[in-house]
Amino acid sequence: MTISTTDSLTVNALTVDQRIIVPLDVPTAEAALRLIDSLPQVSFWKVGLELFISAGPGMLQELKARDKRIFLDLKLHDIPNTMAGACAAATRYGVDILTLHASAGQMGLAAALSAAQAESAAQNLPLPLIVAVTLLTSISAEALATELRVPLKPEAYVLQMAQMTQDVGLGGVVCSPQEVSQLRRFLPPDFALVCPGVRPTWASTNDQQRTLTPAQALQAGATYLVIGRPITASPDPAAAFQRICDECATALN
Ligand code: C5P
Repeated sequence: MTISTTDSLTVNALTVDQRIIVPLDVPTAEAALRLIDSLPQVSFWKVGLELFISAGPGMLQELKARDKRIFLDLKLHDIPNTMAGACAAATRYGVDILTLHASAGQMGLAAALSAAQAESAAQNLPLPLIVAVTLLTSISAEALATELRVPLKPEAYVLQMAQMTQDVGLGGVVCSPQEVSQLRRFLPPDFALVCPGVRPTWASTNDQQRTLTPAQALQAGATYLVIGRPITASPDPAAAFQRICDECATALN
């Protein structure tokens, strides 16, 4: 089995601040650049569908020019041939983490990984860490059963998707912090678990429902934390980022 984690993204080598990814949840390149430049301490930024569609790949070049790491969160879901082409193109951008949906199936995931591997070898670029979304946290147990007609509880479905993702050789999954402990029992330490839905005790939960604190999520075995509004909506974003890093470092020592 191949783990697509690149050397530079090996979990053990990461410091706490390198494990915190801040989402650029803004609609324009100008707003994104203001945020990036106001938080020079943040080394890892997430570009999602809204910003990528509105600002285009130039946003990725701006991040590269600032020597930042990029989590390109496009949640790809298509036929294998299209997944392969999209993953090869994302590899050419030099992104560090790329997301796709596990429900695209084994063939789609395998095609995506092979294409990224071939492109990184051909262009002498690092292989992105490719992680799969197991189940959108917006899908309730009821919707899974009655709309999607999946005869499994969400926890069992998430584990099934994560194990399939690992069998194919991808590097990790995106999951709720509440799922980390269970997944860690079945998956090796170098299989990345990327968690949004994380909230410090001192921050508002906003619209996130079942949260853990950053320290709890890392202690449970999360690899990366995606933390937005507790930092970006804080009156002092730099201090909020530092406080989260300090709390995590204390908990992990
Ligand atoms: O501001 P907040 O910390 O809630 O931001 C979390 C980020 O993670 C947002 O970009 C959100 O879209 C993303 N995300 C999430 N839940 C998921 C998948 C992604 O909150 N299940």
